[in-house]
Amino acid sequence: MSNEWYKELVVYQIWCRSFRDGNGDGAGDLYGVLEKLDYIKSLGVNAIWFSPIYPSPNADWGYDVSDYKDIHPDFGDSDLFKQVVDEAHKRDMKIIMDLVVNHTSSEHYWFKESRKSRDNPYSDYYIWKDGKNGGPPNNWTSLFEGGAWEYVPERDQYYMHAFAKGQPDLNMDNPKVREEVKDIMRFWLDMGVDGFREDVITFISKDPDFPNGFPLPIACGIEHYNKGPNLMKYLKEFREDVIDKYDCFVVAESPMTGAKDALRFTSGDDRVFDMMISFDHMNADCFMTDTIHLPFSLKKFKKALGAWQTKLYGKAWNALYIENHDHPRVISRYGSEEFRDESGKMLATAAFLMSGTPFIYQGQEIGMVNNKLDSLDEFKDVVTFNNERVFRKFGVSKKRYLKIANKTSRENSRTPVQWDSSANAGFTTGTPWFGVNKNYRTINVAADEADPFSVLNYYRKLFRLRQSNKVFIYGKYKEHFRRNKKLYCYEMTRDKDRALIVCSFSDKNLHFKAPKGFSLDEEFIALYNYPDKPSGDSDELFLRPYEAAVFLYK
Ligand code: NOJ
Repeated sequence: MSNEWYKELVVYQIWCRSFRDGNGDGAGDLYGVLEKLDYIKSLGVNAIWFSPIYPSPNADWGYDVSDYKDIHPDFGDSDLFKQVVDEAHKRDMKIIMDLVVNHTSSEHYWFKESRKSRDNPYSDYYIWKDGKNGGPPNNWTSLFEGGAWEYVPERDQYYMHAFAKGQPDLNMDNPKVREEVKDIMRFWLDMGVDGFREDVITFISKDPDFPNGFPLPIACGIEHYNKGPNLMKYLKEFREDVIDKYDCFVVAESPMTGAKDALRFTSGDDRVFDMMISFDHMNADCFMTDTIHLPFSLKKFKKALGAWQTKLYGKAWNALYIENHDHPRVISRYGSEEFRDESGKMLATAAFLMSGTPFIYQGQEIGMVNNKLDSLDEFKDVVTFNNERVFRKFGVSKKRYLKIANKTSRENSRTPVQWDSSANAGFTTGTPWFGVNKNYRTINVAADEADPFSVLNYYRKLFRLRQSNKVFIYGKYKEHFRRNKKLYCYEMTRDKDRALIVCSFSDKNLHFKAPKGFSLDEEFIALYNYPDKPSGDSDELFLRPYEAAVFLYK
């Protein structure tokens, strides 16, 4: 079945708990989503990806699923979800669910049964091992919560968890577990959803020898369970038995995936995903993880994006994004809070006019920025807590860690969406589950709606431009001035159409000279991020801080 339509999607990611509270209990929900479907559509978006909205005890805010076939009561119920799907479809918007099957919640029925004995229908659903020398089976550490093994006296064995203790890894080597996964997929596809974002899907096959890993305080052993020996076999099974039978698509999340891996999984005979989420360009201001912060390097950013654009061109498909629920807000990272408006628009221009499917994250469209909490007690995420433990071990004080968390934690992107300047940013009439960013009186949807030059209205223009000129969606990417540390300039070409994208990453004025063969004449300007056009002539521009301009030649 051809599902090529995914190439022309613009996806809006909803992290439901913070999106919009429709029933006044302080948590975002599907009533809120229903209310805002027209708003989402108005952005030029034609698909919604829901981060997990299934029942969950929230060890990892929904990424620990305790029932794969229901909706979390905080968000509504299955009937309400079905209504959201139908209403989205009426508006020509697709719905994508998060499929979290590397692990379940420890509260899932399968796990509750599995932990009871070594001999029951679910005993092999998870990864259980005997201890070694009075301790765990090997030296692996989890990504989220200390060691990767937890002892269970009933079985006198350890279970493995790559993430939090409440997220036991499923044993995908067990064919029954794979059948369960397929059953879950069919359940949602039959209900009418249009695809999946598959969570850490490349972790599902582990090295059967479970050898010790390279000693690291976090994620030790990852080399033995990321892209393991049976990964391709299991993914092909999912693809052939389910995905290929529906008009749907799959975007895979896979940490530590380069463009080469993406080619392996998304092209040719072994194509098991339609696209993969790249992490490379999200490491332009850190080492491996956001928490190990470094100064932003535009060169790293350009190199990563360029590699994916050029290596995948004509063979595979890109997923484009610069924000999601796992990272701090991008303006605070790669742009400038001082030039919030300009840098927010510029970053969108840099990221979303190249080939691939754009994914934007709630609040990004109004230029939301990082949060500033006054105390560590206000944080709510297992990752923040784990990093605190690790940093404290290395002698970092609480005060210092608060600063680090305020800058680098993914909770920065999980504050409620700022709808207007009324109490709690119009997010809820109750007490918000997580404090609203204090800047909501100036940064909110209502203010942006009223301003034709707002970040919100810029996103609308940008997606309109992109959707009406296929050169941006399918074009061939070529970078100019690669070594420039403050300028990102690339061209897109398709048949006779050409576009030039010029983005300043500087907080100062910047002189720009056109690459050979390009005219910067006003008549070619298709988009610009200041209220007035950039100044210059056909050969050069005098760019203001974070200025962006797009030239289109048809
Ligand atoms: C990736 C998800 O995006 C993240 O939020 C989650 O914590 C981990 N996978 C574990 O499921």
